[in-house]
Amino acid sequence: MMHADGIIMGSPVYFTSVPAEMKALIDRAGMVCKANGGLLQRKVGVAVIAVRRGGQIHAFDTINHFFLINEMIVPGSSYWNFAFGLEKGDVDRDAEGIQTMQVLGQNMAWLLKKLCS
Ligand SMILES: Cc1cc2nc3c(=O)[nH]c(=O)nc-3n(C[C@H](O)[C@H](O)[C@H](O)COP(=O)(O)O)c2cc1C
Repeated sequence: MMHADGIIMGSPVYFTSVPAEMKALIDRAGMVCKANGGLLQRKVGVAVIAVRRGGQIHAFDTINHFFLINEMIVPGSSYWNFAFGLEKGDVDRDAEGIQTMQVLGQNMAWLLKKLCS
């Protein structure tokens, strides 16, 4: 993460939030970065959520809060960054979810080019 210009954090939804593994990453990386002068400052961050049915906004918010407290820059998309699916490959049938990810990728790339030029 320290060497990246942009970071994508992808997560499923467990009981309307991020799984324990993602929360452990947020807590540990967040603490280390804050305690060492802001190691993630001004990097670009995007959250991508896979969800079967409900709780995606809470999971999305949790990761975005991690980005924002670390002074990162968060681009948006044409909708909030989630797609519906239970099994591997299900999200391919969520046309709006796929479009959201395509626009998100374009906006992230556009922003990274501006910041890194
Ligand atoms: C413990 C657990 C809790 C879940 N909670 C939710 C939930 O609150 N809302 C939802 O829409 N899907 C929920 N799901 C479905 C997952 O979002 C979905 O199965 C996801 O694809 C799991 O990704 P994984 O295989 O990487 O763990 C849950 C799945 C598990 C295993």
